[in-house]
Amino acid sequence: LTAGPELDTRPEFLEDVRAGLCAERKRLSCRYLYDERGSKLFERICEQPEYYPTRLEAEILERIAPELAALFDEPPRLVELGSGSAEKTRLVIEALIARHGSLLFEPIDISRSALELSSQGLLEEFPELEVHAIASEYVAGLHALSEECEISPAPWLVAWLGSSIGNFHRTAAADFLRRLRNELRPADFLLVGVDMRKDASVLEAAYDDEAGVTRAFMKNLLLRMNRELGAEFDPDAFRYEATYDEELGRVEMHLLSERAQRVLITSLGLEVDFAAGEAVHLENSYKYSGEEIEALAKSAGFEVRRHWDDGEDRFREVLLALPKESP
Ligand SMILES: C[S@@+](CC[C@H](N)C(=O)[O-])C[C@H]1O[C@@H](n2cnc3c(N)ncnc32)[C@H](O)[C@@H]1O
Repeated sequence: LTAGPELDTRPEFLEDVRAGLCAERKRLSCRYLYDERGSKLFERICEQPEYYPTRLEAEILERIAPELAALFDEPPRLVELGSGSAEKTRLVIEALIARHGSLLFEPIDISRSALELSSQGLLEEFPELEVHAIASEYVAGLHALSEECEISPAPWLVAWLGSSIGNFHRTAAADFLRRLRNELRPADFLLVGVDMRKDASVLEAAYDDEAGVTRAFMKNLLLRMNRELGAEFDPDAFRYEATYDEELGRVEMHLLSERAQRVLITSLGLEVDFAAGEAVHLENSYKYSGEEIEALAKSAGFEVRRHWDDGEDRFREVLLALPKESP
């Protein structure tokens, strides 16, 4: 396990919390949702009946894994951005090992605990697997890997699953893909799991499950600030809301203050005032149409080589590569 260049996130966490909670429209970044408890809660979200993306993506990956393995004449390196439990990735790992005999898997995730747990499980399950886990922010991790390419020229299959691309604003998603593109070579592929636009009722249920696991996941950020920053949030004094904005094509996730309150954050020497009903923005999840995916890929300098869906176009796996004519 390599500690990536940005693993010490505390200074950034402090600064982001200060900036976010002092802003006119309060916000906290979704990347801080994934501490050890948050990563475990996310796994439980994936098991909720309303949370269709994990189930659909697993079905698609199971079906297409042999085709992905057949993209390469020589054993590729499998890189995964935000791998989490890597539960679905094992389907791809299995197919790559079946076709190529062995595999180097390089997961990148800011959650060190998720990396440790998933790597251990994978190594026990697949004796032919080597794992080089990188505890880092996406871009820094990928950049560290691309520097190693001079030593190992094997082609890459980069997986970015779970509709994590949806957490980026549309323009930021294009910028991020462009940065990824700059790290990739003509023989490499990028596989992106994308959640499609659909009915508001399906989306709002998926992001606010009946059992309250998503609610607990979001409120865990308040508890994380209590644990790590000496904050004094009462999680019961906030309620969680997920709403779909059809026009923008995004689910917006907020915590709303139940009453007027003042909260101390000791490590910042800061007291934050919340008005009754005031919202703190936590996360967006953008949904895409087929045309939007094509336009996004093109604007980032990628070509969509193939895509597969669940049969009802609720979720898509999109295979991107550098345009064929590119030098
Ligand atoms: C929505 S979960 C998806 C997990 C898994 N890929 C799946 O499909 O179920 C996002 C994962 O990305 C990680 N993550 C979030 N933001 C990140 C960032 N900026 N850099 C690296 N990892 C990040 C989180 O720790 C978490 O494990």
